[in-house]
Amino acid sequence: MMILGIETTCDETAAAVVERAESGRGRILSNVVLSQISEHAAFGGVVPEIAARAHVEALDHIIAKALAEAKCTYAALDGVAVSAGPGLIGGLIVGLTTAKAIALVHGKPLIAVNHLEAHALTARLTDATDFPFCLFLASGGHTQILGVRGVGDCVRLGGTLDDAIGEAFDKTAKLLGLGYPGGPLVEKEAISGDPARFSLPRPMSGRHDADFSLSGLKTALRLEAEKVAPLSDQDVADLCASFQQAVVDVVMDRLRMGLRMFRERIGTPNALVCAGGVAANQAIRKILHRVAFEAGTQLVAPPPALCTDNGAMVAWAGAERLALGRVDSLDFAPRPRWPLEEAAKAKTTTMASG
Ligand code: KG4
Ligand code: ZN
Repeated sequence: MMILGIETTCDETAAAVVERAESGRGRILSNVVLSQISEHAAFGGVVPEIAARAHVEALDHIIAKALAEAKCTYAALDGVAVSAGPGLIGGLIVGLTTAKAIALVHGKPLIAVNHLEAHALTARLTDATDFPFCLFLASGGHTQILGVRGVGDCVRLGGTLDDAIGEAFDKTAKLLGLGYPGGPLVEKEAISGDPARFSLPRPMSGRHDADFSLSGLKTALRLEAEKVAPLSDQDVADLCASFQQAVVDVVMDRLRMGLRMFRERIGTPNALVCAGGVAANQAIRKILHRVAFEAGTQLVAPPPALCTDNGAMVAWAGAERLALGRVDSLDFAPRPRWPLEEAAKAKTTTMASG
């Protein structure tokens, strides 16, 4: 089975061709990602209108490149998968409309993929991870702990009540004048900093749920920075180290709780899987290994290029869905908000009303 995957939910324009064998194993034939970072850098974050326009300009070329690199034609495809949400509406419309046009013209099934599920299923493409597993998804837009029981069967165990972790890194970098995207820059500064110099809160720690709240941490950091301003290079490094340590402590506490909830509600996880740009952070990665080990499971960390937004994960999620006969109609509407548990909720509603 050969699937084209299209990704335009945020600031990456991406397309890929992935093959799925009868056995269920996947192989990436091409994976083309165009990052818009330079177009948003001056604003310190993603500007939705700029993102949508950039997707329009780039998507056709990116798809053509993905097909060429895979030595694949439209005729040879078995389906067209696209991230239909959650994400920025402008980008979703560009991706979904393009996918529908290809599906219609070439008579191929359309598979509307949930972007979060695409992140979740990546570990099955890279490591053939069996269900159920626990997913820690931490990017610029999302921070969630999920129990993944099957295709289209995810349970949300926890998530952020305000900022995503990547967003908190980005805002910290912006406050300290470091640039965008902030995560890698804060991590670099933290290496030469003292993580114990500034006392920052560990929001939500110790609570009996697996939720996050990061906006208070960001405010606390700003207040500490104001106290010592003007900032020397060492102050900046110490602030970064103290911030990163607080995040690491919070991730450890929240994930331990998430894994405990997983055991109570789902059973024994086959793995702790990480996804999203934040998983590239070495200090966080170390803690993920530790938490997985403590919970008697293993950490599955797909390569960084497959942890951040890409078309291969969308194509793969499409392949998994198509293999189960799940396709979508051409009037599928983009879903800027699309919680993973929506299908389960809909079922409950039907049962309650029926
Ligand atoms: O998954 P991703 O590439 O894109 C989306 O947000 O969808 O994640 C990007 C986010 C940014 O907020 C970035 O600052 C953060 O991941 N990030 C990091 C690191 N590398 C990227 N955060 C902390 N440490 C890093 N090394
Ligand atoms: Zn993403």
